[in-house]
Amino acid sequence: MRIENQAIFIEDVPARVIAETYGTPTYVYEENRIRDNFRRALRAFRRAYKDFRFFYAIKACNNLAVAHILRQEGAGIDAASVNEILLARELGLGGEDVMFSGNFLSDDDIRQGLESGVIFNLDDPALLPRVLKFGKPKFLSFRVNPGYGQSEVGDFVTNAGPGAKFGVHPDQVMDAYRAAKAAGITRFGAHMMPGSCIRDPEYFRFITRLLMDIIGKVGRELQINFEFIDLGGGLGIPYKPGDATLDIDAAADMVAAIFQEKIAEYNLKPPRLMMEPARYFVGDAGFIVGRVHAIKDSYKRIIGTDVNMNTLARPAMYGAYHHIYVDGRESEPRQPVGLCGQVCENTDFWVKDRPLPAGIAEGDIIVVENAGAYGYAMSYQYNGRLKPAEVLVRGDQHFLIREREGFDALVRNVHVPEHLRNSSAGAGTPPGGKKSRKRASN
Ligand code: LLP
Repeated sequence: MRIENQAIFIEDVPARVIAETYGTPTYVYEENRIRDNFRRALRAFRRAYKDFRFFYAIKACNNLAVAHILRQEGAGIDAASVNEILLARELGLGGEDVMFSGNFLSDDDIRQGLESGVIFNLDDPALLPRVLKFGKPKFLSFRVNPGYGQSEVGDFVTNAGPGAKFGVHPDQVMDAYRAAKAAGITRFGAHMMPGSCIRDPEYFRFITRLLMDIIGKVGRELQINFEFIDLGGGLGIPYKPGDATLDIDAAADMVAAIFQEKIAEYNLKPPRLMMEPARYFVGDAGFIVGRVHAIKDSYKRIIGTDVNMNTLARPAMYGAYHHIYVDGRESEPRQPVGLCGQVCENTDFWVKDRPLPAGIAEGDIIVVENAGAYGYAMSYQYNGRLKPAEVLVRGDQHFLIREREGFDALVRNVHVPEHLRNSSAGAGTPPGGKKSRKRASN
């Protein structure tokens, strides 16, 4: 994104053109930014450790067009559900290019996960006997909860440690792999996902050490050659202006150094090193183009936009900060105001007090930053406000990659039983039919 003569451009497409062509609110992704993010990170990690690969956690932005960009760059897919395995299949990916990291799986999940032939990453040793009832995975890993997690989105997305629902307790990891080996499984990896949005490289060293001390002992004692060790996602991006970016080279160097040290300490055959980020690839490449529709002066001035809590859930869910630009007004003096969406909930009042351009007016176009990860993917319908469109930009080209929902989305899968179609309750058969009427007259 850039601002030129006050106009906001997403790659080389003016935000105004997006608003006029596709309406608002619309999610917009910069193809070149996604590629740059991926390449920067891959370069850093491959330089530090040669046998390195990224999977993309498709949950963050599951539009196939976006996922194809990352596939073209060489990413595999981290799938959280069977449907995400099917999305990967749409990309032409399966087998060892996909890892199934679901949690609290149903029997159906397990059966379909096995049938798909992707790498199975179990969140709990108790799942193993259930999996074996349906078949034997070719390639298995366990998601380890190394006892520590961290996040810059508060406790909301701390995915490991004693308070998290994820992963295998460190004390259970040895027995988990022992049982898998005894069951005849021959190919193994190991995995963790302790936190999200971390910009401190030291954190990545710390968690790598934790995991390697758990997995190293397993490898040594059970004579397991781990083919990969996956450190999860968590590479952070700055959301607030002025916040530092993650030094990706430092993170890669620190991770590789401790990884190699632990490989030597536990005498492991060097595994492939893997990570499966999402936010780092797509977060700052995504924007929401919205519009100001109404301005209220009451206890305070409130700017009413169509970027609703159901368009972007993160502020209402996590108190997350997303920077807002106003097209054509960025160099105006600022005045603290509130900003909200159009939903009948006060959590939709997602900016309480922020200096925005003083002249902001009805009809203005706003651009919300850092919306590429967990943006559209977490949007929902509410108040009859429907899911937005998604557009990809590449230089001065723009492509509609998901249509805006229309009214049919509210009625498409809904069935109204025949008796409710009559003009009034009395005109139909009462509940319980004749029987209940009889009972009433007795
Ligand atoms: N791997 C697994 C198993 C995950 O569960 C996740 C994200 C990732 C990788 C990718 O993590 P990342 O690199 O993006 O940090 N909705 C929250 C974030 C939830 C993270 C869920 N898991 C948010 O909007 O901040």
